[in-house]
Amino acid sequence: MDKPILKLLANHPVARKPVWLMRQAGRYLPEYRRTRSQAKNFLDLCLSPKLATEVTMQPIRRFGFDAAIVFADILLIPHALGQNLAFKEGEGPVLDPISDQTRLASLQYQPNLLTPVYETISALQTALPQNCGLIGFAGAPWTVSCYMIDGRGKTGFPQTLSVAKHHPQFLQNILSILISATTDYLLNQIRAGAEIIQLFDSWANLIPSDDETLYENAILKPTRQLIQNIRQHYPHIPIIGFPRAVSPQRYLSYAKHTGITALSIDEKLPLDFIRDELQKICIVQGALDPQILVQGGKEMRLKTQDYIHTLKPNHIFNLGHGIVPETPPENVAALIDLVRYAEKPT
Ligand code: CP3
Repeated sequence: MDKPILKLLANHPVARKPVWLMRQAGRYLPEYRRTRSQAKNFLDLCLSPKLATEVTMQPIRRFGFDAAIVFADILLIPHALGQNLAFKEGEGPVLDPISDQTRLASLQYQPNLLTPVYETISALQTALPQNCGLIGFAGAPWTVSCYMIDGRGKTGFPQTLSVAKHHPQFLQNILSILISATTDYLLNQIRAGAEIIQLFDSWANLIPSDDETLYENAILKPTRQLIQNIRQHYPHIPIIGFPRAVSPQRYLSYAKHTGITALSIDEKLPLDFIRDELQKICIVQGALDPQILVQGGKEMRLKTQDYIHTLKPNHIFNLGHGIVPETPPENVAALIDLVRYAEKPT
């Protein structure tokens, strides 16, 4: 095994910390914007194996990350379920909201719509350098249900929260449809060559802080079920879970009760909590503030060194959330150098 990120995820010692960044392919790169303009729209870009392979490779060529993440989107699952999806300039994704059981029952999973993603993964297996791991991914059931129920992300998902409170069975019905479709999607990604899976639960933080039952039913249980389904076929596949921006206690219970291999964390957790509590029970991924990457300079150097020198070796360097479009690419290059050539303080 000559891929540092796979070694680390298998709990073997590595010479230096592996590093990759969420949303490492994207609008902050001029070469991405050029390829993006060749596609009719964003969905087309995700579903064109040739273009999706190219944009996945762009940050690997430029920066030499330790992992590539297949270029796709968590909303391809609602698309494959037959829910109308568009990505609108300046607004993000827009879907026809699913508000009742009749509409939910009319959805039909069309697995063939996702075949291009598997083709992209196969093409990447050939194209990637041999020390670079390949990450497949999906949205976690809760986060995808947020978009399916509210139809858009800009307003904080009030419908989803109301459904969770007043129609828990309806929420469970959506979650169980998502668990089945996502199981099929991820198994196919692994068959095509994905070596690591990441589950994005970007809106895990919307669960009210006094509702542990909902955290259990909407986050922990569906994630555990999905992971069990995958491990039935691939017992050793490393799975990174990202219940973004939840409380320290909830990160802990997620790490203990879902079956993940590694926990991706946001930028707000205190370093000593990460080291003394989380790293004791699992591998951790994260968690530089994406805004610090925009800023660069001395503050980025100090924060990066903090993470590198304070945390234990079972750490994959990453951000606390995705790269934002304003990020200067030269700051990304400088960050990689900092991680690669970090000296222990004397
Ligand atoms: O490089 C990578 O990380 C791989 C590609 C990737 C994208 N989306 C491409 C993308 C990944 C892993 C995602 C996951 C995703 N998609 C999440 C979870 C991670 C997170 O950010 O919390 C979510 C919530 C989505 C849904 C989504 N897709 C939103 C809210 C948006 C609009 C936001 C924006 O930046 O415009 C998208 C569009 C999207 N997905 C873009 C990219 C590069 C920008 C689209 C463009 O080029 O116009």
